[in-house]
Amino acid sequence: MNIILLGPPGAGKGTQARRLVEERGMVQLSTGDMLRAARTSQTEMGKRVAEVMDSGNLVTDDIVIGLIEEQLSYENSNGYIFDGFPRTLAQADALGELLDKVDKRLNFVIEMRVDDDVLVSRIVGRSTCDGCGEVYHSVTKPQPVTCGLCGSKIFSRRADDNELALKTRLMAYYKDTSPLIGYYYAKGNLRSVNGLQDINLVAEELASVLWG
Ligand code: AP5
Repeated sequence: MNIILLGPPGAGKGTQARRLVEERGMVQLSTGDMLRAARTSQTEMGKRVAEVMDSGNLVTDDIVIGLIEEQLSYENSNGYIFDGFPRTLAQADALGELLDKVDKRLNFVIEMRVDDDVLVSRIVGRSTCDGCGEVYHSVTKPQPVTCGLCGSKIFSRRADDNELALKTRLMAYYKDTSPLIGYYYAKGNLRSVNGLQDINLVAEELASVLWG
C-alpha cells in the first residue's frame, strides 16, 4: 500500500502519517522533515533551504525529488506514505517514474479536506517533540510535561509556524499543489477524507478508505 497524503499546511498529514507508521508499520517519507534535517547542516545548501522554508515558499523540485529518490527501495514491503510530496506537477511526474524504477505503484492519493479558517489555529498551536517528532497541539492534543511516546522533555515550534509564513504556504498550496487533485483524479486514485473531524475519527475514515 503506497499512498500520498495531500492537503494544505495544518490539514493533519503528519499526524495521520505517524499513526499509520505506528499501527501499520508503513514508512513515512516527509519531505518537510527531510528538509528540516538538511537545514541544520552548515552547508550552503542547508542555509538556502532554511531561508526558503522560513518564508513559506517551496524548495526547488530537484532538491526534493533527490531526497525522495535516496529513500525509495525495492525492500520496503509495508508501503510508503508520501507526506508533503509531491507538491508540484513536476514532482508528481517524477514520483511516478521513481516508483516504476523500484517496481512499485501508487495505490491511493488522499485529499485531506479542511477549511482554511481552522488552519491558523492548528499551525500556531502546534509543538513537536524534539526526541521523536510526535506532534502536539495546545488545544486538541495538549503537550505533556514529558512526551507520551519517548519521554523527552524538550519540545519545539517550527520557524515557519506563524501567520505571515502560513499565508505564503497557503498561496503555494493553492497555486502549485492543488492542481494535483485534478491530476490524480484523472488517474483514478484520488480519494478524500474529512480532516475537520477529531483526530481519531480522521484515522478511522482514512483506514476505511484504504483497507475497506
Ligand atoms: P511540511 O513540513 O510538509 O509542512 P506543511 O505541508 O506545510 O504541512 P504541516 O506539516 O504544517 O501540516 P500537517 O498537514 O502535517 O499537519 P499536522 O499533522 O502537523 O513543509 C514545510 C516546508 O518545507 C514547506 O513550506 C516548503 O518550504 C518545504 N517543503 C516540504 N516539502 C516540499 C516539497 N515537496 N516541495 C517543495 N518544498 C517542500 O497538524 C497540524 C496541527 O494540527 C498539529 O498541532 C496537530 O496536533 C493538529 N491536528 C492535526 N489533525 C487534527 C484534527 N483532526 N483536529 C484537530 N487538530 C488536529
